[in-house]
Order: sequence, then structure tokens, then C-alpha cells
Amino acid sequence: MRGGFPWGIGRRLAGVRANKSCMELTIREERPDDCRTVGELVEAAFRPLAFSDHTEHLLVARLRRSEAFVPGLSLVAEAEGRLVGHVLLTRLEVVAEDRSAATVLGVVPLSVLPGLQNRGIGSALLREAHRRAVRAGFGAALLVGHADYYPRFGYVPASRFGIRFPFDAPDACCLAAELVPGSLGGVHGTVRYPAAFFGETPEA
Ligand SMILES: CC(C)(COP(=O)(O)OP(=O)(O)OC[C@H]1O[C@@H](n2cnc3c(N)ncnc32)[C@H](O)[C@@H]1OP(=O)(O)O)[C@@H](O)C(=O)NCCC(=O)NCCS
Repeated sequence: MRGGFPWGIGRRLAGVRANKSCMELTIREERPDDCRTVGELVEAAFRPLAFSDHTEHLLVARLRRSEAFVPGLSLVAEAEGRLVGHVLLTRLEVVAEDRSAATVLGVVPLSVLPGLQNRGIGSALLREAHRRAVRAGFGAALLVGHADYYPRFGYVPASRFGIRFPFDAPDACCLAAELVPGSLGGVHGTVRYPAAFFGETPEA
């Protein structure tokens, strides 16, 4: 099946792009018994990447146990009985100069198993996460990520909204998306990550 899948809500998704084959994909909320496999999946996804510090799986574990965690916004992609992708959206704040804070979501991180990348799994996960985020009352999402990948989902440089990240990252990689049009109007300042983002590793 070619692009433009009718990805629906929380349901079985037929026809993930593959070279010549199709596989049925389900996007669903992560369950407690998925956590170990999700950790392995995230670690595997980032293992080949030179820019990674290879601790993203530990970050996911910390965020899952933090106040920034939003139940229902840690999603897995399942195909043929195994987990093939994961996305986690957690609360972030954008703090203005007058110290007022706006709550948005951070995408930290998006992961697809190396052997199954470029088949639409990451796209399906992120689009479904956006839909669920809106239903949960969130209007915007921020991330630091691939400048060539995320614009297709509505992400633009966060600097356009006057939002800065506390990292030394290229402007083109510091991205924001209005999941609800206009939701970032009046939101500006510096992104404040939850303590868990920088915290210590929880015990397994
Ligand atoms: C990045 C990632 C999540 C994308 O998920 P995916 O399922 O492989 O990608 P999709 O099938 O949804 O999308 C494929 C498209 O994205 C592009 N793409 C995939 N990975 C990309 C990357 N790292 N940078 C830029 N574009 C990328 C492909 O070229 C393809 O483009 P096309 O539709 O124009 O042909 C996945 O490759 C992954 O887990 N990578 C390792 C971990 C990572 O980098 N996570 C994101 C951190 S910001």
C-alpha cells in the first residue's frame, strides 16, 4: 500500500509501507508489561546514531516515573505480535520573562526498530500521538530533532514563536508544532524541562 494511509484512532492500521509487503500495525497505549521491551526498542533505535549519547531508553524510564508523564501519551506500535515503535510525549513548560509558564508537550523520543524504519511507523505513531494529545487537552508540542523529518507533521522552528530551548542545538532542529491552530499565540520564552529529564536513572 502506498502513502496516505487512513490512520485512524487506536485501532488496527492496515498496510504499513514496506518494499513489497504489508504488515498490519496497531498503535496503542503502552502497558506496564511493555516497559522492558520499549526500553530495548529505544536503545536499539538510537544505537547506530552518532549524535546520540545512547541513554534515551533511560530517559524514557525516568520520564515514565515523573510528574511530567501523561497517562495515555506513551504509545507503542505493534506489528505481527511484537513492538516495533514507541513515542513518548510528556509535559514541558515554556517560561516567559515575567516567569509565567505555559504547559505544552515534549516529544521525547520517537523510536522505530532499525530494521523497520522508513515504512511509515514513526509517522503513524506521531500522528496518533498528536490526535490523542489534542483529545487530552494539549495544544502544542515541542522537540529537538531531525530538521528534515518533523516539518511534515507541522513542526517549524520554535524560534518563530519566540520559544528558545536550553540547549546548544541548531535553530532548524529546535521545533514546535501547534496541534491546535493558534495555541502558541502568546506563548514565548525558554523551555523548562522536567527534573527527570536530567535526573538519575531509576532502578530497573
Ligand atoms: C526518525 C524515525 C523515528 C522515523 O521513523 P520511520 O518510521 O523510520 O519514518 P517514516 O517511515 O515515518 O517516514 C519516512 C520518511 O522519513 C524520512 N526519514 C526517516 N528518518 C529520517 C531522519 N533521521 N532524518 C530525516 N528524515 C528521515 C525518510 O527519508 C522518509 O521520507 P519520505 O517519506 O520523503 O520518503 C526512525 O527512523 C528512528 O527511530 N530513527 C532512530 C531514532 C531517531 O532518530 N529518533 C528521532 C529522534 S529526533
